[in-house]
Amino acid sequence: MSKNIPDFVRLEGKQSSMVLAFNRGAPQVIYWGKKLSAATNNDMLTTLRIRQEVPASPTREAKRSLTTTTGEGFSGNPGLKLFGDASQWAVAPTIVDVQQDDSTSVTIHNLDKTREIKVIHRVRIDFESDVIVLSSEVVNLGDADINLEWCTAATLPVPEYTNQILGFEGHWAGEFHEQHVEQFFGSYLRENRRGRTSHDAFPGLIITSKTCDQQQGDAYGFHLGWSGNHRLLSEKMADGRAFVQMGELLLPGEVTLHTNDSYHSPKLYASFSSKGLSALSQQYHRYVRKNLLKYNAAEKLRPVHYNTWEGIYFDHDVDTLKDLADRAAQLGVERFVLDDGWFIGRHNDKAGLGDWYVDESIYPQGLTPVIEHVNDLGMEFGLWFEPEMVNPDSNLFREHPDWILSTPPNEDVGFRNQLVLDLTRQEVFDYLYERLDCLLSENNIAYIKWDMNRDINQPGDQYFKPAVHRQTKALYALLDAVKKAHPNVEIESCSSGGARADYGVLERTDRVWTSDSNDALERLKIQKGFSYFFPSELMGSHVGPRDCHITHRNLTMSMRASVVLFGHMGMEMDLRELTDEEKVELKAMVDLYKQHRALIHSGDMVRLSLPDYAMGTGVVSADKNEALFSYSLIRSHTSGLPDQIRFSGLDPHKIYKLHVVWPIRSGDFWPKSSISNFETNLPKIDGQCFSGEALMQLGKQLPRLVPNSSLIYHLLEQA
Ligand code: GLA
Repeated sequence: MSKNIPDFVRLEGKQSSMVLAFNRGAPQVIYWGKKLSAATNNDMLTTLRIRQEVPASPTREAKRSLTTTTGEGFSGNPGLKLFGDASQWAVAPTIVDVQQDDSTSVTIHNLDKTREIKVIHRVRIDFESDVIVLSSEVVNLGDADINLEWCTAATLPVPEYTNQILGFEGHWAGEFHEQHVEQFFGSYLRENRRGRTSHDAFPGLIITSKTCDQQQGDAYGFHLGWSGNHRLLSEKMADGRAFVQMGELLLPGEVTLHTNDSYHSPKLYASFSSKGLSALSQQYHRYVRKNLLKYNAAEKLRPVHYNTWEGIYFDHDVDTLKDLADRAAQLGVERFVLDDGWFIGRHNDKAGLGDWYVDESIYPQGLTPVIEHVNDLGMEFGLWFEPEMVNPDSNLFREHPDWILSTPPNEDVGFRNQLVLDLTRQEVFDYLYERLDCLLSENNIAYIKWDMNRDINQPGDQYFKPAVHRQTKALYALLDAVKKAHPNVEIESCSSGGARADYGVLERTDRVWTSDSNDALERLKIQKGFSYFFPSELMGSHVGPRDCHITHRNLTMSMRASVVLFGHMGMEMDLRELTDEEKVELKAMVDLYKQHRALIHSGDMVRLSLPDYAMGTGVVSADKNEALFSYSLIRSHTSGLPDQIRFSGLDPHKIYKLHVVWPIRSGDFWPKSSISNFETNLPKIDGQCFSGEALMQLGKQLPRLVPNSSLIYHLLEQA
């Protein structure tokens, strides 16, 4: 190849390698997996891949390049679909330049001279985390317009033995549910047309070997950092080759490239682990902590939240809020978040969205008295917004009925009484920026809960063109502008719970509201799913009301509080209803969280592989000197005696002192609501020392627990 173009580039992570070959015209990943040593040269990899010709097949294997194309004869899903007035549909760019700044990144320029189309691939590996960030850019160098239908961020091969797909499904109040599917010939395809990241098609996939579990085996992870429409595809071709593609789902006519216009795909975050699913998640967590989060655990501890939503809903009143703030402060809360209902006309969810002015009939002196009261109690103040939306019953809509996305004359499908503002119009963007900037400048607001409560499912702009792509970019620009003007204000990404959780929005936000469900049992599943790609400090997790408002399940405070420890803790209920006993337990969890949050928000998270009647998770410090583990029993044990809990991620040779730190107890007595009546084994084990290998290989005999209860263990190395 020409002197600018090497035959191969090898990108090295701490534990993985990716080898790209450039010697066949278009860039191909010829190896991606466990780290290769110097014993392997790149020619060996090519030679080992030589195939024979088989009947009824092409004589030459069509390339599975970063951008697969029909023009090159690839019969699987193309990585690029576009059309113009001539043969652009058969685009087949080849490498014209490769730029490698260092051993961690490479930019590959490809050109189709005939069709005057350029494709640029950017690939970068983060050495410490082994996360590879890939994206594609398409440039129209011709005179005629090109309509873009699909541009994958990359096409990444996965080996044939990794034939298990772990995807995510869900719904409102039930996000991030694991979905296990065996790979089949054809495509596993998830398409999201909701205009937001969505509850039901989280843009993440993990492909594993059959023997992979939380602690062992090969796992390939994929996440698309994008908050609009998306398409995820895991395909196995009839010749046995398998690959994954992820990119933005573009609506017909949504992206037209005029001369010299470019389209940039969202970023695909890919990572390989040979040590199972927990290790894969740790890699993603490391990446997020180092590259996306503004604060790490040591720089700013994540404050305990109180959120007003499930406490008072729209029933705002200054005296009530002051009373709730007093009670919250007594429980150790550090940030008081005023949810929906503070702006004019917002007495229920039928009116007011868009009118971002404080309702003076409720707050005659503005928000200042409440904020000052909260600040005087030593707490920060946070405020709820839903900037992208408008109620038809609002002054904003009455003045500007044309400021919305819609598909006239089609009837609006109806969605929580609200419509989507067209952020691609400069005047809409400017209005929202002015309102946010003004409220943040005039009030001491440390935190925004940025909500978004409907799909953008009829996304036509003023020119009748589909606008999800541009709307998503405009949202990012609005968030960036607010952050730039108010760099110390933290922003939570909320979308009817967890419908906007992705690395695209996380480049400009600081926390995710994981789900509207505060039901502890539902939360165990939701939070487990969330933990595959997001570290615990991002996971908004609140102790909810005694009777869950969504499932009506009644759970003890001990159980409800236990599930928030491994997230960013908060509480969300009417604090006036707490019994004295509940207050003591809730305060104990606040104290436990404060004591351990630096560890929880910086350590390595492990999910335990347990029978389906139980859930377990843990966090181990980087030096393996300290750890916390929780075990929750959801249904009765299937055997007479409960199981051994085998810990994970510890140093086998270290000696750890074990303490049971939850539920709280008086002396040696554990509460009967959690531990069954028989004398338990806990006093005999609590405070004893054990080796890491004994805790991991034999494990600890559990006490007989009552279903819907949790135990939390603390382990500290004894030097
Ligand atoms: C959404 C959020 C909730 C709450 C309400 C307010 O449903 O997910 O937490 O803020 O909106 O209307």
